[in-house]
Amino acid sequence: ALPADQVSKRVLLAAPRGYCAGVDRAVVTVEKALDLYGPPIYVRKQIVHNKHVVRTLEKRGAIFVEETDEVPEGATVIFSAHGVSPAVHLEAEARQLKTIDATCPLVTKVHREAVRFAKEDYDILLIGHEGHEEVEGTAGEAPDHIVLVQNPDEVDDVEVRDPDKVVWLSQTTLSVDETMETVRRLRERFPALQDPPSDDICYATQNRQVAVKQMAADCDLMIVVGSKNSSNSVRLVEVALDHGSQAGHLVDYADEIDEAWLEGVSTVGVTSGASVPEILVRDVLQFLADRGYEDVKPITAAEESLLFALPHEIRRDLKARD
Ligand code: F3S
Repeated sequence: ALPADQVSKRVLLAAPRGYCAGVDRAVVTVEKALDLYGPPIYVRKQIVHNKHVVRTLEKRGAIFVEETDEVPEGATVIFSAHGVSPAVHLEAEARQLKTIDATCPLVTKVHREAVRFAKEDYDILLIGHEGHEEVEGTAGEAPDHIVLVQNPDEVDDVEVRDPDKVVWLSQTTLSVDETMETVRRLRERFPALQDPPSDDICYATQNRQVAVKQMAADCDLMIVVGSKNSSNSVRLVEVALDHGSQAGHLVDYADEIDEAWLEGVSTVGVTSGASVPEILVRDVLQFLADRGYEDVKPITAAEESLLFALPHEIRRDLKARD
């Protein structure tokens, strides 16, 4: 390796990165609820899987709980972007909670697919990660019809009632390539396997992965800004490494970057998961600029303009106030 002062240094900055439409909607929902009704506002689970977002909203008066039984009767609770099962809606109703549902509309779409295929008595092979909130919510729509498949290696163990009546659905934030491999292996076993009516892996997950693929081979190091429990962020590190980046790390904050990672590094790729505010990426770029990585080249894989309307309770109450 060349001495540090002779290495030409640059940053490739992925676009799109950061907030997707579903995260933006969910975070604004909590902010508007705080404005409209005043603190405390309860939120079931992390509104989005990002440490900084959760800390910031906590400071403003949001209280994050794991389950609705931690919410005082009659209080307001917001359901997170990852969605909830029908059982959670019923629990909230029984406790007379006022609920605001910030489930991403693209997650709700998958819930509807699960309900529909269950009604038609299909076995639903749900590709996703056990224990992830989104998977719990989707599976809860049709508990008797869903078989969880986490990765290609689990395909051989899948059992169904009728191999001619199977459909696959997926979590919205998976690796596109790994999911396609899982589907290919499932179809080998079940040739009649039906595809979902439209992509379950959402546009934001797909676009962030495409951008990383475009730049990974040129990167000595990929820094992905995101939290460890953020599925789509973790996938971005994997995609970078699979597509030729020499190294890859996930950080919540710039100060988690280890100076040793930069030794002999010429090109640093930077991107962020769908739950990550841009300010955290700015901090990383500043950290890198302070160490000689001032030349920043954007790598743009797609333009995004999707926006979702806020939940109807918030829209109604904003309108009534104005
Ligand atoms: Fe929705 Fe995809 Fe974002 S499912 S919350 S748009 S990562």
